[in-house]
Amino acid sequence: MGETVSVTLHNGDVRDLMTLHDWDRALFGNSPLACGTYNLQMESRNYTFGDTDQASARLRRLAEVYEAETRAFLRHSGVHSPSIAVDLGCGPGWSTRLLQEELEPHRTVGLDVSQRYVEEARHRQISDLEFEVHDIVQIPFPIASPDVLFCRFLLTHLSPLGQVLASWARIAALGATLLVHETETLETNNPTLRRYYELLSEMQQYYGQTLLVGPVLHESFQNSGWQIIESNGRILQKKASEMAELHVANLRTWRHDEYVSRSFDAEEIDSLEDSLEHIAMGIESGEVVINVARQIVAQRP
Ligand SMILES: C[S@@+](CC[C@H](N)C(=O)[O-])C[C@H]1O[C@@H](n2cnc3c(N)ncnc32)[C@H](O)[C@@H]1O
Repeated sequence: MGETVSVTLHNGDVRDLMTLHDWDRALFGNSPLACGTYNLQMESRNYTFGDTDQASARLRRLAEVYEAETRAFLRHSGVHSPSIAVDLGCGPGWSTRLLQEELEPHRTVGLDVSQRYVEEARHRQISDLEFEVHDIVQIPFPIASPDVLFCRFLLTHLSPLGQVLASWARIAALGATLLVHETETLETNNPTLRRYYELLSEMQQYYGQTLLVGPVLHESFQNSGWQIIESNGRILQKKASEMAELHVANLRTWRHDEYVSRSFDAEEIDSLEDSLEHIAMGIESGEVVINVARQIVAQRP
């Protein structure tokens, strides 16, 4: 209560609604607004990790590095054979594939704001999966009343999280399950990796995003329309070489970001890129990264 949201009506007018209560009335009550197109005024434009071939290859590797814990999370979520499962921010569809294999929904749909990723997903993933271009901070979705919503490595890029979660609750089926896998900590003694995390965190912060989003998730769920059923911090020990492989590909994308070019020292970024490459190739030892993953199962009552 008390959060103000804006709606864009069919005629293009933007109207502020006083509270989420009013928002509910507008969506579900008798209000004439109920037939409008709703446009939550949330930040969704600053996905800084790109959708180039290099960024896509990184997502494929990311999917390999995090496959086991994602499968285990989905398998133990208590959900099986739902009608419609949606993968929010699906990228080229690797997480969507896991969703399909572990939960066996009747329909599995990946949504992503990147047309490039959606086209790649349609091409790469076999035809039992559906993919649509959609900015998932906007409702309604192209899929009505999903009974499972899943997101992995997405909330780190979005804000304000409370509003995003609340909008998902509004389009989900009654009793729907939301499954979230996000990063809570990334700890390492390696100075290159530490500096990489500092700079990445600073860039994300500039865009209103949170690298280590896990610790703020519980408060974001309050009054969101979702009730947390289970929340676990899974302690993962990742090889520094694997993490550096992911990070160097990512750095090569986000180093061209406008804020980064303006604010970070280019020589330092060059040297960070070299060191990450050396760790990735095993020339320099980086030991391990302790990564706590926050995995949440929530329900729409
Ligand atoms: C780090 S990738 C994770 C991809 C996938 N979930 C996985 O785990 O393999 C984040 C994805 O979220 C997508 N994304 C970011 N903001 C979005 C938004 N507002 N709407 C839809 N997709 C978004 C990006 O295009 C990207 O594909």
